[in-house]
Amino acid sequence: TQQSLVLVKPDGVKRGLTGEIVRRIEAKGYTLARLELRTATRDLLAQHYAEHEGKPFYEPLVEFMLSGPVVAMVVEGHQCIPGFRSLAGATDPTAAAPGTIRGDLGRDWGLAVQQNLVHGSDSEESAAREIGIWFPA
Ligand code: GTP
Ligand code: MG
Repeated sequence: TQQSLVLVKPDGVKRGLTGEIVRRIEAKGYTLARLELRTATRDLLAQHYAEHEGKPFYEPLVEFMLSGPVVAMVVEGHQCIPGFRSLAGATDPTAAAPGTIRGDLGRDWGLAVQQNLVHGSDSEESAAREIGIWFPA
C-alpha cells in the first residue's frame, strides 16, 4: 500500500476548498493516515522544493506557500501516488482536464507562480522524503 504526501496549498485553504478536495480523495477510496493544518516555514519549503531551487518560479513559489496555512495529509491506498496525481490533473490549471481538482477548481490568475490548489508526491521516493519532512517521526 502506498502513502502520498498531499498538500492543500494556501489558495485552496483560503478559498474554502479543503472539504471538496478531501471529499474527492475519500470518494476515490483512499484513506487519510494523517491530516493537519500547518503553516509552512522557509526551511521546510527549502527541503520540500529542493529540486526546484534556482528555477525562475522558485522564489514566488516559496512566497506563495508562506502566504497562509496549508493542509498537510498523508493519503493511503494501493497506487495512491499516481492515483492522486491523476485526481489533481496537470500542473497548469488552464491545461488541467475538467474532472480533475485543478481542472474543475483552479485557474490562472496571471501571477508569477501557478496557484494550483494541491501538491501530491510524484514517486515512491518523493513520497518517503516528503512525508519525512512534513511528518517527522
Ligand atoms: P506539485 O504537486 O505542487 O509538486 O506540482 P507538480 O508536481 O505538478 O509541479 P512541479 O513539482 O513541477 O512544480 C511545483 C510547483 O511550482 C507547481 O505546482 C506550481 O505551483 C509551480 N510551477 C511549476 N512549474 C511552473 C512554471 O513553469 N511556471 C510557474 N509560474 N509556476 C510553476
Ligand atoms: Mg511536483
